[in-house]
Amino acid sequence: MTHGAWPTEGLSFGGDYNPEQWPREIWREDVALMREAGVNLVTLGVFSWGLVEIDDGRFDWEWFDEIVELLHENGIGIDLATPTAAPPSWLLAKHPELLPVDADGHRQAPGGRLGWCPSSPVFRRYAERIADALGERYGKHPAVRMWHVSNELGGGNGRCYCDESAAAFRSWLERKYGGLDELNAAWGTSFWGHRYTDFEQIMPPRGSTAAHSPALQLDFERFSSDELLEHFRAERSVLARHTDRPITTNLMVNTGDVVDYPRWARELPIVANDHYVIGADPHREQELAFADDRMRGIARDRGPWMMMEHSTSAVAWQPVNRAKAPRELLRNSLVHVARGADAAMFFQWRASAAGAEQFHSAMVPHAGRDSKVFREVVELGSALRRLAEVQGSTVERAKVAVLWDTEADWALRRGLKPRRSMSYSDEPRRWHRAFWRRNILVDVVPPWADLDAYDLVVVPTLFLVSDEDAARIAAAAERGATVVVGYLSGIVDPDDRVRLGGYPGAFRELLGVSSEEFFPLMTDEQVELDTGWRVREWSELLTTTDAEVVAGYANGPLSGSPAISRRHTGNGSAWYVSAGLEEDGVAALLDRLIEGTGVAPVLPAAEGVEVVRRVGDAASWLFVVNHGSEDEELTVTGHELLTDEPVDGRLVVPAGEVRVIRE
Ligand code: GLA
Repeated sequence: MTHGAWPTEGLSFGGDYNPEQWPREIWREDVALMREAGVNLVTLGVFSWGLVEIDDGRFDWEWFDEIVELLHENGIGIDLATPTAAPPSWLLAKHPELLPVDADGHRQAPGGRLGWCPSSPVFRRYAERIADALGERYGKHPAVRMWHVSNELGGGNGRCYCDESAAAFRSWLERKYGGLDELNAAWGTSFWGHRYTDFEQIMPPRGSTAAHSPALQLDFERFSSDELLEHFRAERSVLARHTDRPITTNLMVNTGDVVDYPRWARELPIVANDHYVIGADPHREQELAFADDRMRGIARDRGPWMMMEHSTSAVAWQPVNRAKAPRELLRNSLVHVARGADAAMFFQWRASAAGAEQFHSAMVPHAGRDSKVFREVVELGSALRRLAEVQGSTVERAKVAVLWDTEADWALRRGLKPRRSMSYSDEPRRWHRAFWRRNILVDVVPPWADLDAYDLVVVPTLFLVSDEDAARIAAAAERGATVVVGYLSGIVDPDDRVRLGGYPGAFRELLGVSSEEFFPLMTDEQVELDTGWRVREWSELLTTTDAEVVAGYANGPLSGSPAISRRHTGNGSAWYVSAGLEEDGVAALLDRLIEGTGVAPVLPAAEGVEVVRRVGDAASWLFVVNHGSEDEELTVTGHELLTDEPVDGRLVVPAGEVRVIRE
């Protein structure tokens, strides 16, 4: 069941390799250390544009040829990156107009990266030329196993407000709406008398003392994502003339989307992610699992995806750059593998001595080979080789889906809202955490995903939803699933217009409720339900029209009125959670939701012990990751791959360690 296009035999292991920062002697040491660690894939060239195209149209291939050959001779595969994330200094000096402009009209200065406007035709020409030159030179090289377009598109140039972007935005709007009447109607421009009489009057949401129309803002997000996707496509089609290897780009899927990753993923043969743990996140282990469950939810057929970048220890861009504790690197990497990654790749191979990211950890740290980090890197390499047989398998089918949509995120984040300090990811993550704590596997999927296989579908803050997606969610309940809709779902349609007649408009009928007024709670305000569950942030004045009340308010302004409801429909049920439950309430509710369904933990284990199963044609593997400080004993039979020992019914997973059992 090996994935045909997978770039390596077994799992991929390696990272960004930037030899241009080092003299030749270090290159030889690099490949020797890579072999020691078992590295089989490196991302090459990702920031080397200015060193390959040394002046407009003048190329220096010598060093690049040499490193490609050196890697090839040592059996190390190459993920060849087009270097368009970092335009050369000569290009920016020649064409300063391609630097992006922010909402207040400031043009970015040269010296950073991703400093280009996605709508600049000049930049596009230069980017296509370097991609073409690379493709022509290395497209058939046997060491090149895959292609990597640019780097984290949108990270730095996600939104550009320059005149060129404004013109491109107008063309995008003309294509979308056809005419101004349609646009005026969709955006509701009668408000403040903003009706446009000429496309030329439309501007990106540039700096303004008053709020912009939310519909304009939402379309600008969509446009910006589409422009970057167009850029990806343009480079991809140039490369495709030279190679039949997979061409992808690295996404940044964690808890907020710069571009529309679920929609982008449909274009990628291998979906790849960059994930960095946020040191200050009190739930960082769960966040890692959440991002992985999102990746699986957008990967083709839920198949293998690529962990393209993570860190061996500290990053360089957080307020405090927390180092990873001993063994944390192994746990983090193997959680990614457990949750469907067939790769553990890092930024970067060797820690830089100079440059913006000189204090970012790497596979070879400043301290060199004799270090905690390099020892763990070598150990990880050996673990991945022992796990080679899992490559191409998939994670066991989850019975629970938590829905996530980037457009709903954008719509909730942009414009004036009843409660402004809300982050779209809070509720999906709160729900996910309740399942994660119980080792119940969840797929985090877009609302257009096939919901047929799920027994439980959670719809948290799906602020924007189309009629079609709302109908499919309702159909899941009819078919027999338990559907749980959370507050602030189904409020607006894809034009960002409020669905009238009572909230949550798109789901009112399914849920048998109607909510006539939002009662957002003030910061620090808390009320209680008659079940004892605490509520923060959100409440609403709810009436049940065709549903039973599961819980009501015990105090506060809505005392006595319903907060949580349930309606039986078809073979399933539809619950509405109109209140912002604290974690304990979500957990208690979850117990009720899964009662009598087939939803169960992969294996019962103590909190902090993560258990995930991957399934192949001939075998299945149980990954057990002990994040805790106590050894954990589990009932399992099979063969443990990391220690290469049989397991006869009883498995002890020492504190902080990982075990993988072929069942
Ligand atoms: C991103 C980039 C890398 C590097 C890391 C640092 O993932 O792609 O080039 O900057 O962040 O964490």
